[in-house]
Amino acid sequence: MEEPHDERALPAYRAWPMGATPNRAPSGMRRRMEGTPMQGAITLAHISDPHLSCALPKLGECLGKRFLTLQSWRRRRETLHDPAVAETIRRDCQAAAPDGFAVTGDLVNFAMEREFAASATWLCRLAAPERVALVPGNHDALVRGAAKTLRHHWRPWLGEGNEIFPYVRRIGPVDLVCVSSAVATAPLLASGRVGRTQLDRLRSLLATPLEERCRVVLIHHPPVDGLSPARKALTDRHAVARVIAEGGVHMVLHGHLHADLVSTIDADGGPVPVLGVPSMSIATGHHEHAGSWRRIRLSRGGAAGWRAVTALRSVTSEGGIEEAAPVVFDLPKLPV
Ligand SMILES: [Fe+2]
Ligand SMILES: [Fe+2]
Repeated sequence: MEEPHDERALPAYRAWPMGATPNRAPSGMRRRMEGTPMQGAITLAHISDPHLSCALPKLGECLGKRFLTLQSWRRRRETLHDPAVAETIRRDCQAAAPDGFAVTGDLVNFAMEREFAASATWLCRLAAPERVALVPGNHDALVRGAAKTLRHHWRPWLGEGNEIFPYVRRIGPVDLVCVSSAVATAPLLASGRVGRTQLDRLRSLLATPLEERCRVVLIHHPPVDGLSPARKALTDRHAVARVIAEGGVHMVLHGHLHADLVSTIDADGGPVPVLGVPSMSIATGHHEHAGSWRRIRLSRGGAAGWRAVTALRSVTSEGGIEEAAPVVFDLPKLPV
């Protein structure tokens, strides 16, 4: 962690540039921006799955699952994930001067110690730890023992104590509830699991009064049906979705699928938007969704509760950035 936090003054945020590429919100949840920016809003940058490049595993490090992941990296991912694209996205979201960063995992590829050290340096350059909410992905837990290494290098960004997850990062009026779905799995699987212990803690954490705050859950694997093949899915997604629906959550952010996705969890206060962001490092021309981040502006809408105005910003083949049309969500109305 030798590198100092990047605390330089950043360019002022320019509100509501209108882009060209629509994304895929259900029609009932889509509304174009109208009128002036909202007052008193807080802005989050949701980034995910940078799959930061690093020196590849050596022969002695290539046991078990790492060997298969290395084959996959050489066959496809090495050209798919471009460090220059990740850098373009990092700079673009930093230039937007968000109040906080939601980072939903897969920072590394092989879960090696030197990758975690490099990813900690990368996190230092992103923002001060108190402005970052971070959850690990399946690649960050690729092999048994990775969780311990991860905790050592990522400690400034994680919760405290032995039971690190779930933890809450408070940024302004928003509680970012960080849930880990990262577990070591058998070869060829990329599934996730939250587990009973963490679910119990999450249930009691969500039972605390909201006090008019906005509550957003971060998790790498989406806790909904139908988005992932079984080998990549969250195995206890139904239990996780139930706790989210019963506990009072305004929004869920996930990564893992490297795609711009909008789904929902049904809850008494209304549907909870579940937003997936593409990988921030995918080169154009290789995948449906090139490197992107999502700007999320949260504001209180008076009696209407919380509102989120979101926009996906993606790299172009010329190395620039294009912004998709904004999508507005009126978030579930929850008891305070
Ligand atoms: Fe990923
Ligand atoms: Fe993943």
